[in-house]
Amino acid sequence: MDYNFSKIMDSIKPSEIRELLKFASMPGMISFGGGMPNPLSFPLDEIKKIADDVIVNNGKLALQYGNTGGLPELKDEIAKLLLRTENIKTEGKNVIVTTGSQQALYAMGKIFVNPGETVMTEAPTYIGAISAFVANGVRMRGVPMDENGMRTDILQEKLDKLKSENIKPRFIYVIPNYQNPAGYTMSTERRKHLLDIAQDYKIPLIEDNPYGELRYYGPKMESLKSMERENEVIYLGTFSKVMAPGLRVGYVNADEKVIQKVNLLKQGLELATSSLSEFIAYEYLKRGIMLKQVPKTVELYRGKRDLMIKALEKYFPEGSTWSKPNGGMFIWATVNENIDTTKMAKRALENKIAYVSGASFYPDDVKRNNMRLNFTFSTDSEIEEGVKRLSKVVEEEAREIAAS
Ligand SMILES: Cc1ncc(COP(=O)(O)O)c(C=O)c1O
Repeated sequence: MDYNFSKIMDSIKPSEIRELLKFASMPGMISFGGGMPNPLSFPLDEIKKIADDVIVNNGKLALQYGNTGGLPELKDEIAKLLLRTENIKTEGKNVIVTTGSQQALYAMGKIFVNPGETVMTEAPTYIGAISAFVANGVRMRGVPMDENGMRTDILQEKLDKLKSENIKPRFIYVIPNYQNPAGYTMSTERRKHLLDIAQDYKIPLIEDNPYGELRYYGPKMESLKSMERENEVIYLGTFSKVMAPGLRVGYVNADEKVIQKVNLLKQGLELATSSLSEFIAYEYLKRGIMLKQVPKTVELYRGKRDLMIKALEKYFPEGSTWSKPNGGMFIWATVNENIDTTKMAKRALENKIAYVSGASFYPDDVKRNNMRLNFTFSTDSEIEEGVKRLSKVVEEEAREIAAS
C-alpha cells in the first residue's frame, strides 16, 4: 500500500534523542544524552506499598476508566501542592490531570494555535516542546537566553517587529527554572518584565516547571503563575522528576476556560489518563512521600552536578564554556565555534560517549557548537570518565578542523 501521510507528519524528522537512546545501551557506552531521572531516585518500596494498597482498597476504581479531567481527589491534592511549593492559590477545578506534561504541551499547541500561526519560545528550548508544537503545525520564533533566562528585551523587540508584520504570537512558552537544555534560571527582574509583556501585548504565558523542586543551590524563585495578574499564566507540572516518569502523570493549572479546552481534547486523545497512575500519585501526595523523597533526590543530583562541573573544569579544552545550573538535570556546554557538535557525535559514539547536540534544541536559527549534557543518570565514575572521553573528542575534532 502506498500511504499518503499528512503534510505535517511528513515534515517531522525522527528526533536525535530517540536515535541516541539506541546507542545508550551499547556495552561500555557512557550516555549524557537522555533526559532520564536516575532510577535510584524512584521510591520503589513506597510505590510498591501504595500500589498494593490501591489495588486492595480501590482496585475496582483504579482499574476502571477514569474521569477525563482526572481523579478529583488528586486534583485537590495538586492544588494543595501548588500552594505549598509555588505559592499558587488555586483549586481542583483549575487543574486537569494529563499523561505527563508532554501531553499538556501537545494540548497547548492544539488548543491555542491554528496551523501556520506563531508562538514564541526560548532559544534553545525543550526538544519535546518543539515536537509537540511541530505536530500541530505551529511556527516557532526563538528568543535568545543568557544565564538569567530568556532575554525579555529581545522578546519585546521581536514582538514589535512581528506586530508590524501583523503577526500576533498565540503564546510565549518558557521553562523558567533550571531550563532544559540550558540549565539557566530566569531572574526575578526578567519574570516581572515577562509578565508586563504578556499584559501589554495580551499574549498568554505557558510556564513549564518540571524541575522546580530539583533545586541544589540558590534561592527558590517565585513562579510566574503566583505573580500573574489576570490569569495570563498557564502552568504545567509533572510528577516525572519527583516520583517516576513511568507512571506518566502531569497536570495543567489554569483558568477554567483553558481547562475545559484541554478536557475536550483529551476526550478525543485518550479518554482519560491512567486511573491506576492517578490513584498512586494521589496516595504519594496524601501520605507525604513526595516531601520525604525530593530531598533525597536533590542530595543525589547535587553531588552529580558538582562532579560534572569539576570534571569539566579539569578536562574540558580551553575556550569551552558551560552553564552552572542551580538545579535540574542538564549542563549546556559550548565549544570552539568551528565545531559542529552534530557532526562530532559520530566521533563521540566511536569513543563510547553520547550527548545531544545543541542544534536539536533550536526552534529557528540553529547554532551548532553546543551540546546538552545530562548529569543525573550516569554513575559518579561514569561522569568523570565520560567528561574525560568527551574532552578528548572535542580536542581531536578541533585539531582536525584546524588542520583542514
Ligand atoms: C521542559 C520539559 N517539559 C516537559 C517534559 C515532559 O515531561 P513528562 O511528560 O514526563 O511530564 C520534560 C521532560 O523531560 C521537560 O524537560
